[in-house]
Amino acid sequence: MALLEIIDLAVEFKSRAGTVHAVDGVNLYLEAGKVLGIAGESGCGKTTTMLSIPRLLPRNADIIGGKILFNTENLLLKSEEDMEKIRWRQISVIFQGAMNALNPVKTIGSQIGEAIFHHEPRVSRADVSRRTSELLDMVGIASARSSSYPHEFSGGMRQRVMIAMALACHPQLVIADEPVTALDVMVQAQILNLLKSLCAQLGLSMILISHDLSVIAETCQRAAIMYAGKLVEQGRVEQLFNQPAHPYTQRLLRAFPNIYAAKKFLVGIPGYPPNLVNPPLGCRFFERCHVRLEQCKTSEPQTITVEPDHLAACHLLRETKQ
Ligand SMILES: Nc1ncnc2c1ncn2[C@@H]1O[C@H](COP(=O)(O)OP(=O)(O)OP(=O)(O)O)[C@@H](O)[C@H]1O
Ligand SMILES: [Mg+2]
Repeated sequence: MALLEIIDLAVEFKSRAGTVHAVDGVNLYLEAGKVLGIAGESGCGKTTTMLSIPRLLPRNADIIGGKILFNTENLLLKSEEDMEKIRWRQISVIFQGAMNALNPVKTIGSQIGEAIFHHEPRVSRADVSRRTSELLDMVGIASARSSSYPHEFSGGMRQRVMIAMALACHPQLVIADEPVTALDVMVQAQILNLLKSLCAQLGLSMILISHDLSVIAETCQRAAIMYAGKLVEQGRVEQLFNQPAHPYTQRLLRAFPNIYAAKKFLVGIPGYPPNLVNPPLGCRFFERCHVRLEQCKTSEPQTITVEPDHLAACHLLRETKQ
């Protein structure tokens, strides 16, 4: 059974330029104990989709439609008070860029302790101190370092602290938004290995957002590709990497080194994603698509099953199936 199911999610932002249709009709699921990857270019709606789950979107955002079922309960119908109990204790987030937002004048230990206290106010000081040491140990930082300040840590260590904070209240689901983006390749591998082993050790489920497909391939069992607020393709990682069905996924794969395929020259995708204040009528990838059909300009492609557990939204698939 799915731990998380997102059904037809739509999110808008009010901005001075107009209403931004940031997420439009996203359907997605995650099974317990699994890691799901979300990829796509900057601005395609990855963060917005995922912050809708714990309802931590900015104030100018509105979830205008859909359901988010977590353990079969629709989080969009919960009161703010109920959500407070779910956040961090059941669903936690490693925010994009958060390792640079640690409080510079507080020790690492006290910041992890605060995270525990905030969500479990009745816990004793001794327990907080013990749990802080355990959490640091779990992410590979000597507990003696809990009295250090963020500036005394490397980027990789600060990201480990963020992971410790996300795990502070034993969540079932962790949403990690670009957790390795600002780190060098060696440290990226260490942090990804840490996340993978924590998932296995603690039976965690995780959503890993990354614009980098090689990070997704390394870490996830299933992945979903977003483009301009839409989910264009999803499936098991081997399916997506070996037989990408959507032209956008195909182009994205050619733009990144692929550990599953023979070495090829990397080719970028010409052009830019469309403006989400006035998204195009038909397929949102139309302007940049190398195999577009006439109908793609005006008619929106429906999501079809390419093979079991492999879905994609492209007119070409229907044409070739017929
Ligand atoms: N607070 C906001 N106000 C108005 N528009 C926003 C806001 N936050 C995001 N957007 C818009 O919503 C769309 C989706 O943004 P989002 O941050 O979810 O993308 P993303 O895929 O996470 O990108 P990145 O890879 O750069 O993190 C973009 O068009 C963005 O400009
Ligand atoms: Mg983002």
